[in-house]
Amino acid sequence: MAAQPTREDKFSFGLWTVGYNGTDPFGGPTRAPLDVVHVVEKLSELGAYGLTFHDDDLFAFGSSEQERQTQIDRLKQALSDTGVIVPMVTTNLFSPPVFKDGGFTSNDRAVRRYALRKVLRNIDLAAELGAKTFVMWGGREGAEYSFSKDVRLQLERYREAVNLLADYTTSKGYDMRFAIEPKPNEPRGDILLPTLGHAIAFIETLERPELFGVNPEVGHEQMAGLSFSSGIAQALYQGKLFHIDLNGQRGIKYDQDLVFGHGELYDAFALVDLLEHGGPNGGQAYDGPRHFDYKPSRTEDETGVWESVAANMRNYLLLKERAQAFRADPEVQAALARVQVPELAKPTLNEGETFDDLLADRSAFEDFDAEGYFNDKGFGFVQLQQLATEHLLGAR
Ligand code: GCO
Ligand code: MN
Ligand code: MN
Repeated sequence: MAAQPTREDKFSFGLWTVGYNGTDPFGGPTRAPLDVVHVVEKLSELGAYGLTFHDDDLFAFGSSEQERQTQIDRLKQALSDTGVIVPMVTTNLFSPPVFKDGGFTSNDRAVRRYALRKVLRNIDLAAELGAKTFVMWGGREGAEYSFSKDVRLQLERYREAVNLLADYTTSKGYDMRFAIEPKPNEPRGDILLPTLGHAIAFIETLERPELFGVNPEVGHEQMAGLSFSSGIAQALYQGKLFHIDLNGQRGIKYDQDLVFGHGELYDAFALVDLLEHGGPNGGQAYDGPRHFDYKPSRTEDETGVWESVAANMRNYLLLKERAQAFRADPEVQAALARVQVPELAKPTLNEGETFDDLLADRSAFEDFDAEGYFNDKGFGFVQLQQLATEHLLGAR
């Protein structure tokens, strides 16, 4: 059975995740708030290495200078007592009423300037705590009605804002990169940069694109009906996987934020396999934090909160173990060869071949037996998937 989580696994949790008090659009809290020091201690005890937070998770919006400092100091003390680190920090630009039409892209210019100041202040705190990644989730950057926003202008303002942030961290000499978190909808009807593909394309328009990557979340891509593991493969291909939000989602519906592994299990298996074995020589393809952004269900009490923390990490490790067994199985290797996965690594053209050469190659077209694919030359994908299923179910 899978090992216990250790610091080397780089598991991290948002303060807002374990701290979720059960509030949803239909009902108020079902649990009491958790104190940050208690959270750090429990996470440490359970084997996590990191805590992440929004500014407003640590000190309530509108806190005085002194209240803010007290909370920062309490956090710092807990970190030094336990050895837990803060790998990532993020800013709340979505809860307070001032952000009801977004932060960086509110139609109200004064709100945009205020949002920038709030983020700049939080970047200083992130640097002070040694965070290497600064996540930006633009949950309120969006619209419900087509004519209330000019999306091209909205992109322009978002671009203006993040260019400024990159200028700031560069001039301060901070060792920090930004990760944009896409989401298709919720809380807005439609959110700006709805998928990781939109975000990656946008990043290319920035002044310092090398400082920007994505923080994709399992459930967010799946809410759009997309395969998360395929999206992650592209983010890795483009060198843009700066951070990741792991959780569970069951189909195209509201953002469920279930425990990782309690949603679409095949996609979770493919994801862990990709992160752990998708590297150039079959090694790790991603070595950043394995960050859980989930919500302990509102049906649970505090015991259930810690059970769900343990479940996230355990499911990741179990899937990692299953993926190792899958890769090591000679029958799987034979099945991969049969379905011609390695063949895809071969360039389609011969070295130095031009389109003239291709046009002159009769075997590629005139003499090619395209009809031969009818009733023959099956790929064998189903057998490979069955082997994956058997490994996933622990039957092999
Ligand atoms: C959500 C988002 C958030 C962000 C967080 C970090 O759907 O609510 O996933 O949890 O990840 O704001 O910026
Ligand atoms: Mn989410
Ligand atoms: Mn998230």
